[in-house]
Amino acid sequence: MKATARANANIALVKYWGKRDDELILPMNGSISVTLSGLNTVTTVEFNEKLRNDVFVLNGVEQKGDERKKLGNHLDLVREKAKIKWNARVESKNNFPTAAGLASSASGFAALSVAAAKAAHLELNEKELSILARMGSGSASRSIHGGFVEWQKGTKKDGSDSYAEQIAKPGHWENFRILTTIVSGKEKKVKSRAGMKQTVQTSPMYKGWLETVENDLENVRAGILKKNFSLVGETAEMNALKMHSTMLTTRPAIIYWEPETIEIMHAVQELREEGTECYFTIDAGPQVKVLCLQKNEAIVTARLGEITGLQKIVPCKVGGKAETISEHFF
Ligand code: DP6
Repeated sequence: MKATARANANIALVKYWGKRDDELILPMNGSISVTLSGLNTVTTVEFNEKLRNDVFVLNGVEQKGDERKKLGNHLDLVREKAKIKWNARVESKNNFPTAAGLASSASGFAALSVAAAKAAHLELNEKELSILARMGSGSASRSIHGGFVEWQKGTKKDGSDSYAEQIAKPGHWENFRILTTIVSGKEKKVKSRAGMKQTVQTSPMYKGWLETVENDLENVRAGILKKNFSLVGETAEMNALKMHSTMLTTRPAIIYWEPETIEIMHAVQELREEGTECYFTIDAGPQVKVLCLQKNEAIVTARLGEITGLQKIVPCKVGGKAETISEHFF
């Protein structure tokens, strides 16, 4: 009862920010993302009757406390469905810094869901896998699929209509690029989960966020299908800024940006003024992802490379879906 899966991270072009149900992880609004090639999590799960408790090793370090509890809760969902009681050994590796705003929970819970379901001999379809991944971390529902992906917020109380579906395959937009910048390898101060809860409860801007997000979804969806880069980029950049304006106005204020974050935002605006089309988007952390087309990748990369304090640029194309692989960690 062992299986291994690999899942890619994703970056939201229209963000998920705020829950209507904390337990089932049901969002206040729909979201659209692009799956990233090259930033991934690989996870091996083995259910074994000899284990006295679940064991979770992340990037070579055994996890205790909260992280192990979250993992155990997620495995319980699988154990319940498969009617098994055995504990599991889980080994997982990210090829990028964990919890620095690079969507490690998205690729993490997507890989875990796919590997655990296979190890437990559950035959789940993509919709069921997306729902399972969602219950670990909302953004993970989208990492089940490759290409461009939309997570429907759904309206049902039980969450059965809140899952992600592919809008366009990875090959649909070959020259779409996402330049992931790493400005700080530090763990972020406020995790998305706590940050979004506080925002829903205290930001006076949150109402405005919800009022405009449907329109952003329509524009980004249409822009992807028509490969209209300006429409996708402009909408995504403004959507990220709107989300950050709700974060900045919670109590206490959540400021995820570091000085380099703002420098990159300025550089992107300057590049645009000079005629090189590119846009930024930022999640709940200091990292900036810059969207551009292949023809401008070199010029954008060169400009970003001039920023001191920028540790790394990882260029990504549109990535594929989560899948099982045959090499296990143990
Ligand atoms: C800003 O999916 O990490 O990255 O559901 O509580 O685990 P939980 O939150 P998470 O939040 C992601 C928020 C975001 C935007 C996005 O990815 O859509």
